[in-house]
Amino acid sequence: MTIGFIGFGNMGKVLSESLRKFSDTQTEIIISDKDYSKIEEAKKAGFKTDNNKEVFLKSDIVFLCIKPKDLISSLEEIKQMIKEADEKSKNIIKKKTIVSILAGIRISKIIDALGIEIPIIRIMPNTPTLVGEGAFGIYFSENVEETPKNFVMNFLNKVGKTVVVENEDLMDTITGLSGSGPAYIFMVIQALADGGVRMGLSRKDALILSAQTVLGSAKMVLENIGKLHPEELKDMVMSPGGTTAEGIKALEENRIRFAFIKAVEEATKKSKELSK
Ligand SMILES: NC(=O)c1ccc[n+]([C@@H]2O[C@H](COP(=O)([O-])OP(=O)(O)OC[C@H]3O[C@@H](n4cnc5c(N)ncnc54)[C@H](OP(=O)(O)O)[C@@H]3O)[C@@H](O)[C@H]2O)c1
Repeated sequence: MTIGFIGFGNMGKVLSESLRKFSDTQTEIIISDKDYSKIEEAKKAGFKTDNNKEVFLKSDIVFLCIKPKDLISSLEEIKQMIKEADEKSKNIIKKKTIVSILAGIRISKIIDALGIEIPIIRIMPNTPTLVGEGAFGIYFSENVEETPKNFVMNFLNKVGKTVVVENEDLMDTITGLSGSGPAYIFMVIQALADGGVRMGLSRKDALILSAQTVLGSAKMVLENIGKLHPEELKDMVMSPGGTTAEGIKALEENRIRFAFIKAVEEATKKSKELSK
């Protein structure tokens, strides 16, 4: 199977490198990007490269890893080629699958930009994919075949956790939660470490302790889904009249839960705006 990537920026790079790491030798990867320095970078990393049109034509599955604002321009040449293709070529093209990682861009918009109805998988990845701990929201258009579906699911489950949704609107919520989420959590880690530094720890020690605390806590939540609620895990730490109770009071005074709920809400709204 040949897998193409249009766009070799932050996410294109993360996904193509992860795919290479986890796929068998029969999987060929081919990359295109508008930016010549990115093409050079891809070549240096050992990838085959070509232009957008050739990547599309040569691939069975094409990952679209450009910014939402570049959707039309990145598919322009491909749209023109499809317009001029005969019926036989159009039927071959219809067997390809596009995997879009674009925030806020609905399937109908991609179909419009291509000028042909082909199967599309929307995924919302996040940057921890780089360390094999991605979180992926996934939505399949109705016409996606089992082979590309299984390929994408197998790949993503190797580099993180997947959640498939039946309603495309929920992709905006996933963008606001796990797509943008690493940025929120990096702030949390940094803020916890700042607290540690303020109370006398070295920066390095404070960062190790805060990051490991987030990692370990996340692992406990994931291992206890359907068994222990996060509130119960919190109660295991918070003893009566103890230190944690004082910390929790300070967090509640500063409306920490409201701040995170609002962050997801605002990011979701922005993703919905992008789709207009
Ligand atoms: N970054 C994240 O954490 C994250 C998380 C989830 C989803 N996403 C989604 O991932 C997508 C890509 O984000 P990113 O951070 O990887 O962006 P990025 O670093 O800007 O990468 C996009 C790449 O595509 C290139 N490009 C632009 N127009 C093109 C065209 N017509 N043909 C071929 N290549 C073109 C860009 O080149 P130029 O730089 O020259 O424009 C750039 O190298 C976005 O749609 C975003 O919504 C990102």
